[in-house]
Amino acid sequence: MCGIVGIVGKAPVAERLVDALRRLEYRGYDSAGVATIHDGLMERRRAEGKLFNLERVLAAEPLPGTIGIAHTRWATHGVPNETNAHPHFVDGVAIVHNGIIENFSELRDEMSAEGAIFVSQTDTEVVAHLLAKYLRDGMDNHQAMLATLNRVTGAYALVVMFKDDPDTLMCARSGPPLAIGHGQGEMFLGSDAIALAPFTNRITYLVDGDCAVMTSRGVEITDFSGKPVSRQMQISQAAALMVDKGNHRHFMEKEIYEQPEIISHALSHYVDFSTGTVKVQGEAIDFSKVTSLAISACGTAYLSGLVGKYWFERYARLPVEIDVASEFRYREMPLSKTQAALFISQSGETADTLASLRYCKQEGLPIGAVVNVRESTIAREADAVFPILAGPEIGVASTKAFTCQLAVLAALAIQAGRARGTLSAEQEKEMVCHLIEMPRIMSSVLNLVQPQVESLSRELSRFKDVLYLGRGTSYPLALEGALKLKEISYIHAEGYAAGELKHGPIALIDENMPVIVIAPHDRFFEKTVSNMQEVAARGGRIIFITDEKGAAASRLETMATIVLPNVDEVISPMIYALPIQLLAYHTAVFMGTDVDQPRNLAKSVTVE
Ligand code: F6R
Repeated sequence: MCGIVGIVGKAPVAERLVDALRRLEYRGYDSAGVATIHDGLMERRRAEGKLFNLERVLAAEPLPGTIGIAHTRWATHGVPNETNAHPHFVDGVAIVHNGIIENFSELRDEMSAEGAIFVSQTDTEVVAHLLAKYLRDGMDNHQAMLATLNRVTGAYALVVMFKDDPDTLMCARSGPPLAIGHGQGEMFLGSDAIALAPFTNRITYLVDGDCAVMTSRGVEITDFSGKPVSRQMQISQAAALMVDKGNHRHFMEKEIYEQPEIISHALSHYVDFSTGTVKVQGEAIDFSKVTSLAISACGTAYLSGLVGKYWFERYARLPVEIDVASEFRYREMPLSKTQAALFISQSGETADTLASLRYCKQEGLPIGAVVNVRESTIAREADAVFPILAGPEIGVASTKAFTCQLAVLAALAIQAGRARGTLSAEQEKEMVCHLIEMPRIMSSVLNLVQPQVESLSRELSRFKDVLYLGRGTSYPLALEGALKLKEISYIHAEGYAAGELKHGPIALIDENMPVIVIAPHDRFFEKTVSNMQEVAARGGRIIFITDEKGAAASRLETMATIVLPNVDEVISPMIYALPIQLLAYHTAVFMGTDVDQPRNLAKSVTVE
C-alpha cells in the first residue's frame, strides 16, 4: 500500500504533489510527506496522520521547487509518526517507497556495521543508505540505482530523487504498481493513473523488473541490469473517473446509494435485455470444457467469490475450489490444465490475489479476472477480463464493488450453465429477467429500509459484539455483514453459517449479543428459523432480515425485523447486501468513526 507520486517539471510542484496524494489517500493515511529541490537545497515537510496535517505544515512553511516526490503511508515497518514518514533522506538521496523490503534487517545490519546511523524504524531507510553507499563508492546515480535494485528483495515500488541532479527522478517496480505520466515539458509518476489524471492522460505502466529514469523531457526504461526495454504509452480513462461525494456525507454513503444505477450499467455489458440472454466475452475460458474452477480473492472480494461458488456449483454443476488468496498460493494445491482460475479484485492490485494468479498461470490454467480497475496489474495479466464497471470506489469499505462483482459472477455462472447444458434457454431467460429487475428492486429497498435501519443502528452502536448468521448464499452475506460492521464501526462482529451456531458460538449468546439473521424465505428458511429459535431460547436478541413471506411465516419475537420484498434466489445476495451495508454505515456514523478511512486500513493492499 502507500501512495507515491513524483513530478519533474517547469512549474512549482509541491501543491500538485499534494493534490495527487489526495487521490492516493485510499492507499494509506497514517502519515504523509513531500520533498523538493530548489536552489541546490533538498528539503522536505512531513506530518503524522491525514493529508490535511501535511497541508497545514506546508501552508506554514511552503516548499518551492520544480522537482519533487511525495508519499502517503500505510505503516508496515515502524509506527505511524513523523520520523517514520517518507520521504527518507540520506546524504543527497531522497526516497519514497511502497511495499516491503524483505531483506531489510540483513541490509540494516550490514550498513550499521559500516557506520550508517538509522533515524527511522522503516525498511525504506535502508534503501536510501544503500544508494548513498554506492554513490560514495564512486558509482554515478544510475549505476547506484541499479546496484541497489539488485541488492534489495521484496515487493516494492521506489522513487528516488538526487540532490545533485535536479532534473531527474528514478523509479523502479517490483510488485506494487507505478504509472508514468507524459506531460508537455513535464513528466509525472504515481501509484496509479487516477493520481495523475489532472496532469495528463498519457500513461506508461511499468512492469515488474523495470527501472525508469525520468527527466522533464521524457523517460527511459531499462531492466535492473540496465538493458533498455520498451513499454507502450496508452491513453488512460482515469480522468473520466474523477469523483466527489456529491450531496452525501461520506463516499461510502454515496457508493451505497449509487448501486442501482451502477449495477444496471454493469449488467448492460453482460446481459442482452432484448433476448433475455447473457453475453459474456472472454473466449479464453471455455466453461463447457473446464472440469473445475479455482477462485481466489481477499476480504469482501473473497466473499463475493464465495457466493459465486454456490452459483457455479448449483447452476453450472461446476465444482469450485475457493480460498482467500493469502492461503491459496501457499497450499500447494494440485492444479490441472483442465481447470480454470478466477481472481476477483476491486483494485486489481492486491498482492496476495496477484501472487495466486501468477501461481495458477505458471501451472498453465486459463486465468479470468473480475476487476474494477481495468488498467490494473491483475487485469493486465489475465487471459480474460470481466470488468465490474462500478466506477471508482473511494470509501475504504467495499460496497458497490461487492454487488457489481456479484452481478458479474451471476452472469458468468449463467453463461457456464448454458455452456455446460445444465441450464435451459428458458431457465436462462427467467434468471436474466430477475437480473434485469434487480436495479429497480435495489432502488426501492434502499428507500424502504433506510429510516428503520438508521434508528436500529443507534441501538446497535451500544453493543460490543454482534453475530451474523445465514445459510446458503446468505452465509457469505453474514460474513460480509460482520466484516463491514467491524471494519468501519470497530464493533466486534462474527459471521457464521447458521447451522454452525450449535457447534460453539451458541455459548456466546446472551442479551448483550445481538444476532443478525439473514434469511430470505428460500429453501433454507425453515432450518434457519430453527437456529433462530435456539438463539431466542437463550435470551439472545434477534435482528431478522427477511422478506414478506419470511416475516409472515416467523412467529418469533425480534429486536427488529427488516422486511424486504420477495425476490428470486439468484438476486437475493445483491438485495440483502443493501440493509447490511446501511446497518454498518449508520452504526459507524453513530459511533463517530472515520467512515471512509477507518483506522489501520487501506483500500489497495499491495503487501502480503
Ligand atoms: C472490505 C474491503 C476489503 C477488500 C480486500 C480486497 O470492505 O474492502 O476486504 O475487499 O482488501 O481488495 P481488492 O478487491 O481490491 O482485491
